Amino acid sequence: MEKIKIILDCDPGHDDAVAILLAACSSQIKLLGISVVSGNQTIEKTSHNTLNICRYFGINVPISKGSPRPLVTEPMICEQVHGESGLDGFDFPNYEEVFDKRNGAELMIDLLTKNKDVTIVTTGPMTNLALALRMKPEISDRIKEIVFMGGSVDNGNVSPAAEFNILVDAEAAHICVNSGIPIKMIGLNITRKVLVTDEIIKKTLALNNKKSIFFAKLMRVFLDNQRKTFNIEGAPLHDPVTIASLIDDSLINFKKMNVEIDISHGSSHGRTNCDVFDYLHAPKNCYVAMDIDVKKFWNILFKCLRSKAHE
Ligand code: BDR
Ligand code: CA
Repeated sequence: MEKIKIILDCDPGHDDAVAILLAACSSQIKLLGISVVSGNQTIEKTSHNTLNICRYFGINVPISKGSPRPLVTEPMICEQVHGESGLDGFDFPNYEEVFDKRNGAELMIDLLTKNKDVTIVTTGPMTNLALALRMKPEISDRIKEIVFMGGSVDNGNVSPAAEFNILVDAEAAHICVNSGIPIKMIGLNITRKVLVTDEIIKKTLALNNKKSIFFAKLMRVFLDNQRKTFNIEGAPLHDPVTIASLIDDSLINFKKMNVEIDISHGSSHGRTNCDVFDYLHAPKNCYVAMDIDVKKFWNILFKCLRSKAHE
């Protein structure tokens, strides 16, 4: 079977780290490259974290430092969940910092010029992809689909209306959602069902291998921080759901509908306005994740943690 070619655009971030691992370990996925964006922490920190993860697990793909800031608004980080480093909880050896010479958008453009039918997965603010689409619109034809973690059919997590990745760069999300490229939104209404609990951490620790220990150490901090921040029992493991949905296309139920990104800069700025019941009769521009088989998700993740890949 032909592998799914992906470019991963991310801002590690604890859940981004798990998304990288899942993509690299899947025999169904060919990871072409990783572009990094500022989001959970500054671009210096998110790219440093990406490099560390890839070096530690021997993931040999180009890694490029992408945009240091959103298109229009000021940068905003998420230190309360991801900590001062952006990836608190795991200490890496000291690696030499060698990044790809191209910036995030340039790397995407180059990889898309050399490859077609590529899936772009974004697990951070969508700045790099929006820039790439503006710099070279022809790349649209080379993209099979965009799968993004962001938004919500219901409540936000940084305001009543908005989810973090979209709020940070709503203009970029607006460009991507209206690009005409097939696009799938995996939002909080789904990812809030995938909860890391003490029980999950205990189970992964018991596997006692390189990947599971990495996962457990990161998730310990991720869970504690989310408990403090949101007063919730489990920590939603947002980003890896994007990759899992590619590994098993029966994991998520999608519904095609109109999605409008609120770029009003008012109190609902960053909201993904999902017209589930087609009130507006507006063009259906996005496949929105409506339901997930949580058990299947954990099977996919545990399969990755148990596998010999990147041990
Ligand atoms: C998203 O925001 C970040 O904190 C996470 O990495 C995830 O991509 C969830 O709102
Ligand atoms: Ca992220």
